[in-house]
Order: sequence, then structure tokens, then C-alpha cells
Amino acid sequence: MIYKKIHTILPVILTGLLLAGCSQEQASETQTSTTPAVSQSELPILDTGPVESMMPAAALTGVVSSSAEGLMEGVLVTVRRDGATFTVTVVSDDQGLYSFPVDRLEPGGYTVNTRAVGYDLVDPGKVIVTGTETVQLDLELTETSDLASQLSNGEWLLSMNGSVEEKQQFLNCVSCHTLQLPMRSRHNSEMFARTINRMSTWSQGSTPMRPQLRPDSVGRNVMQEDPPARAKRFAEFASTVNLSQGDNWNFELKTLPRPSGKGTRVIMTEYDLPRPEALPHDAIVDEDGMVWYGDFGSQFLGRLDPADGSAVEYEIPMTQPESPGGSLDINFDPDGNIFLGMMYQGVIMKFDRNNETFEHWKSPLFDAGDDSRTAMVTPRMVNVDGKVWTGGVEEYQVDLNTGEWIAIDYTKGVPENYREAASRIGSYGVAVDSMNNFYGLQLGGDHVTRVDAKTLDVKPFRTPTPNSGPRRGRIDDQDRLWFAEYRGNRIGMFNTKTEQFTEWEVPVPWTNPYDAVLDDSGHAWTGGMTNDYVGRLNTDTSEMTMYLLPGTTNIRRVDVDNTTSPPSFWVGDNLEGTLIRVEPLD
Ligand code: HEC
Repeated sequence: MIYKKIHTILPVILTGLLLAGCSQEQASETQTSTTPAVSQSELPILDTGPVESMMPAAALTGVVSSSAEGLMEGVLVTVRRDGATFTVTVVSDDQGLYSFPVDRLEPGGYTVNTRAVGYDLVDPGKVIVTGTETVQLDLELTETSDLASQLSNGEWLLSMNGSVEEKQQFLNCVSCHTLQLPMRSRHNSEMFARTINRMSTWSQGSTPMRPQLRPDSVGRNVMQEDPPARAKRFAEFASTVNLSQGDNWNFELKTLPRPSGKGTRVIMTEYDLPRPEALPHDAIVDEDGMVWYGDFGSQFLGRLDPADGSAVEYEIPMTQPESPGGSLDINFDPDGNIFLGMMYQGVIMKFDRNNETFEHWKSPLFDAGDDSRTAMVTPRMVNVDGKVWTGGVEEYQVDLNTGEWIAIDYTKGVPENYREAASRIGSYGVAVDSMNNFYGLQLGGDHVTRVDAKTLDVKPFRTPTPNSGPRRGRIDDQDRLWFAEYRGNRIGMFNTKTEQFTEWEVPVPWTNPYDAVLDDSGHAWTGGMTNDYVGRLNTDTSEMTMYLLPGTTNIRRVDVDNTTSPPSFWVGDNLEGTLIRVEPLD
């Protein structure tokens, strides 16, 4: 075992002069004899009081190196205490140094993992954190022999041959599993077309471990079907980038750069949920810093307490027992009660937090197979007029008092010459301004569409970036809509008062942001569905800092906790059944 205890010495002695390529033993040797030391203020620690000042700054620290690169910046170091229900991750800086603040690691035995594409960790064995002294553990990485299994969806898309449009077809394939399945498959074009056609039978809240049939696919004999032309076209391309022609891919495997600079100044915590199969598609933070999450594939609403990682789950009653379970959107009303879009259960559901009871409103298409789907719901301004908006197969304004659902007609009030185009508009994400007017995001195109709450007149606006795929977003207290452009790879902002757009490109290609939200410190956050990168945009300077999450995540809804300073970021992880907090250090 190659870790070293340094007995309550401050400042911690660092291996700043560690030479590239030297072995682990040599590295340990170097530590004791090497200065310079780094002052405590340069370590990511919290201000400690007079009593705690006897405590070491870091519970666990060291440098990360490989013979290929020497000291390595941007390596994620993740530790989990034996028996703990959460992991803690920090990132090595430009000196290769990583450091866990003492208040983040309780004493105990820890396992260590790393994320650095192209590398595997030489297992350092169990490390014992004492809490009273800084434990020094230098980490050695070796080049991986299986790069393909480490590639994110974004890295596959970056690597494969083909035009952007051809590759973008795969953006429909990243919501239930990663691209490892299609990329490693050996299907020829004909077989691939059948596979792609079969995918359309699975409901959105499916995983390969737990498939659920869409209501309109029950009884379909999909293997007997002639796949539609679209599936065949895609299959023709897909079969040129998988393993149908040999044991290796016919393109070079490319990787994204590791995090750097400010992107390494972060602590991430990943919390397990009570059910490992949980799909926490949407997670939102309340004014006390509690995190509420839905489940995309099961009838549960949960609440996580980040202080100790404990979670409570409430079982949501089924309204259509024969249809897939699970919710998509989850939002607070002005009283802090929670509304959920219940997908194939065909209702919007309200959870009363005082009584811990559920109440629901049925879609007019309730029972109508796939058409009854209710994905989105916006109770944020229900105090204005007693109404919420929902999105799904169709979008509606719902009067909670009368139970009336009025469908949006996207051509209503639109100038004659735009009516045909407007008739093709639909909305994925939905948001409301301070007057409870509707703003819909056209994932299939590039419109943000306003619907007046009183007249239901429609006004579509096109994003400056064509075919941007606006996906989801939130309106801030200045009535500005912050949203993600899925295909445009941008954060968008639509000022609903001036009717002007501003866009910021995400600096990492193939991030494909899903959602965006502004925090109280003026940073807009987004996260990628394809590459596990989270972006934090300084809206004054337009600088975007990119943080890489510790695991393969498939980011959806993003939210911020404004009770911390600076505000922290939260996202659910459908692939690992966890909730992840990202805390920037400055
Ligand atoms: C709605 C969820 C969902 C989406 C979206 C989805 N898949 Fe799947 N995929 C599944 C499930 C469930 C399985 C396992 C059951 C099965 O094979 O049908 C699976 C399995 C697979 C497999 C392994 C089985 C085989 O036949 O080779 C491949 C390859 C695959 N998917 C490719 C794709 C591609 C390509 C896309 C995009 C067109 C896609 N998937 C989109 C749910 C999905």
C-alpha cells in the first residue's frame, strides 16, 4: 500500500517537483524531501474556526501522474467510504494535485477511483482516512487497453465518420442507453433497420434492464414489420460505423480534453438512491436545500437530504395500471407543493407537502394510448389565474378549479403567411413568465413560442441558430427564458420583454445540452446529454467553465441550490440511479 500519513503538519508538503515518469516508490521518496510547500490558502478548504485550526486542511491529498504525461491535470478522483451511500470527487489541478477537504471525508476506509479518458488507475488499495492527520496518496495511471469502453456518447460522435446530419441521427439513441450498444453491434444495414424500428416500441422510461412497451406498441409483432424508410436510411449509415465490417472500428477513437483551469476547482458528491433502478430524470431543489426527484420509469416521488444522504420516497398511485409508469417534469407551485407530468399515466399529479397526499387531473385524451401522454407541467404561476400549462403529445392550458383542458392551436393569431409553418410547431419543454403566459420549446425545430394566457394567441420566435433544437428551460424573475439548444450546442436566452435572443456556444463539441437554469449569482448552468459535461456560464463575461461529472450520466433536467455560496448545481443520473451535486470552489 503506497499512502503516507503526514502527522498534522501544515502546510502539507506537496510533490510539486515530482518528475514525469518516476515510479510510485520514487514518488513517495520524493515527498518527504521535497519543498516547496503550498500555503493552506491555496488548498480548497473551508474557513475553520480557532478550535478546528488544529485540524489538517486536507483529509486526503496527493498527485496524479502517468508515465505518458507526467503530472496530470483534470483527473477526477472519486472516493467512497466503506458503507457510505455517496461518493466524493475532486479534480487534480495543473500541478497534478488533488485534495479532499477535511470536512468532506469522515474517518474510515475508502476505495479510490479515477476518471481520465484513456487511462486506468493502478489500484492503490484501501486508504484509511483518520480525520486528524492528512493522508498522502499519490495515484498512478496507466494507459488503458480498452479505450472504446471509456468513450462517452459525445466522443463516439466526434470520432465516427459521417456528416453532422448523419451523426445527429444518433441523438435519438442516447436517452435509454449509451451508444456503446449500437457502436459495438455487428448488425448489417438490414438487421440494424429492424433494431432501430424495435426501439420505437419502448416507452421513454425504458432501459435495457427494464423495458416497458409503449401503449400503442402492445401486440405489435415488430420482427415481422418492414421498417419505415427513415429507420432504413439511418441503418444504412449506422452499419458503416459499427463493427459489422470487422473487429475494429474503421475510424480513430478520439477523446475530449480533460477538465482544466477553473473546471478543476470543484467538489462533486454523488448520492445513491434507495432503489438502484431509479431513473431520477428530473430533480429540483427547494428553499431548504432538499432535493426532490421524480422517476422516469416508476411511480415514485423522492426527497433527498444532502446533509446525510438520507432519502424518503412516496409511492405515486397508478391512474392507468396497464400503461408504463413514471414521470417526467417535476415543479413547485408557489406554496412549495409539487406537480408532476405523469407521462403514460395520462394525468398531472399534485403532491401536497403538508398532508403528504396526491391529487390528479386527467388529460382529455386519458386512456387514448400514447396520445394521453402528459410530460410537462408548469405550476410556477398558478396563483395568477389558477391555471397550469402541460406539454406532451399536445400542449394544454389546464384550469385546476374547473378541470377544463384547452389545447393550444399553434396557428391562432399567427399572420397568414406563417400559418402553415406554425401548424407544424409543437413544444417539448414548457415555461411560464410572470403573467403565466406560455413559452414552448420546439425540440424538432428552432422556435420558442409564446401563447398568451388570456387570448391563447400565438407568437413564434426563431432562434438565431437554425435547427437549434430548443429543449428545456426556465424563466427567471426578470422574465428571461434560459434554455438549452440540443442540436445547436448552445445556451439560449430569450428576453420575453424585448423579444431578443442571446446565445452562448458550449465550448465542448457534442455536449448536446438538455436544459438550462440561471442561479442567484448570475451564472447560467447547463449539462450535456451526450458527454457528462456540465457548463457554468458567467453571464457578465460570457466565460463558460466546464466540469466533467464522475460517471456516465445522461444529463436531463438541471437545477441549482441557491442556499449555498456560491450556488451549487444538481442533476439526476438515470444511468446510475443517483443524484449528483456540483459545488464550484469559487
Ligand atoms: C426508448 C428507449 C430506447 C431508445 C430511445 C433506444 N433504445 Fe436501444 N434499446 C432499448 C432497450 C429497452 C433495449 C433492450 C431490448 C431490445 O433489444 O429491444 C435496447 C437495445 C439496443 C441494442 C442491443 C440489441 C440489438 O438488437 O442489437 C442496440 C444495438 C440498440 N438498442 C440500438 C439503439 C439505437 C441505434 C437507437 C436509436 C435509434 C436506440 N437503441 C434507441 C431502449 C431504447
